Amino acid sequence: MANIPSLTAKRLLLGLTGGVAAYKAAELARLLIQDGMEVQAVMTESACRFVGPATLQALTGKPVFTDLWDTRVANNMAHIDLSRNADAILVAPASADFIAKLAHGLADDLLSTLCLARDCPLLVAPAMNRQMWEHPATQRNLATLRLDGVTILDPHSGAQACGETGMGRMLEAQELAKAVHAVFRPELLRGRCVLVTAGPTYEAIDAVRGITNSSSGKMGYAVARAALEAGADVTLISGPVCLEPPAAARLINVVSARDMLVAVKNVVSYADIFVSVAAVADYRAASASKQKIKKTGGDITLELTPNPDILEYVANLPKPPFCVGFAAETENLKVNAALKRRGKKLPLLAANLAQDAIGSDESALVLFDDEGEHPLLKAPKIVQAQRLIQHIAALYEKQRS
Ligand code: C5P
Repeated sequence: MANIPSLTAKRLLLGLTGGVAAYKAAELARLLIQDGMEVQAVMTESACRFVGPATLQALTGKPVFTDLWDTRVANNMAHIDLSRNADAILVAPASADFIAKLAHGLADDLLSTLCLARDCPLLVAPAMNRQMWEHPATQRNLATLRLDGVTILDPHSGAQACGETGMGRMLEAQELAKAVHAVFRPELLRGRCVLVTAGPTYEAIDAVRGITNSSSGKMGYAVARAALEAGADVTLISGPVCLEPPAAARLINVVSARDMLVAVKNVVSYADIFVSVAAVADYRAASASKQKIKKTGGDITLELTPNPDILEYVANLPKPPFCVGFAAETENLKVNAALKRRGKKLPLLAANLAQDAIGSDESALVLFDDEGEHPLLKAPKIVQAQRLIQHIAALYEKQRS
């Protein structure tokens, strides 16, 4: 069995300097926290003029540091303590002035000092007026930072807060989140494309009614998160759920099984690994009514027709990705799961008891592969997803070698 991965959260120190784009840093903090990261915000004096430290504190769940002489730090060395407790530092937005300071090794406030005192990767997301960006001094400073090993997350060209249009517009929060995840990526699935389906499907009967099931999507979303953590590029095709998607995944929302199949067909050629977690409705109404069906008082009969089996379709492609199925059973888990795996020609199938797993934050899983059964004892779904991804990565590499 694969080892249980470390669950220690990655720690990002998020530095904010003065710029209108500081509001995007607040959104970024929210996305990263949502993806399970620990975020410690440090703000310069000018950053505090654009967003309040209270906003960042509320979003990160940690007091924000702004002062080199903060007496909350026992040894009075906030710059050392904060940089030692970070796995990476991202300065977003980084003003032209702050970039100049970094390039020259100046250390006259908390953020610049801890950047100088760090021994972890530093990422910088510039945000400034186009002329400040284009100025040779700024470009010289950026070149110096690149030579110093700093990652510059180049801005976009676009409408600027000052009313002008040009280069210098800071990346959006989601793009920054992706860059942060990339820094933390371990090797396990680096460079691999993982396609995940999640959630239920909804099959319309008429304009307002439909057939669905009680899948919450939690397991599929956890698998997408775990694949991202393992360094994969993740596409998540999701049925209707009430969950925040992992920020760094490419999300495709669908409603019905047939929509899901179309979405899968559109992207499957890029996938190295397909994890079919979705609880696809097996049947749909043979003919859905465009109008609301009127109550008659008597019995009515609804004719159902089978939906396409998406996993079966993918597993039978001439060059299928590594396919992983899920089976939620209410009885005879092992027998049914083994039959399903063979029936759909899958190298790996994860099975659980529907009554334990659906809607819950925890599940017990049994993995079935050519070597037999591998029970994964009850644990939070994100832990199960991390264990599953480790197992998938090991089998995938074995299959390739
Ligand atoms: O519903 P069933 O137990 O057969 O599901 C087993 C696997 O097949 C799951 O991974 C599910 O996502 C997939 N499946 C599918 N399309 C269907 C039915 C199931 O992709 N129509």
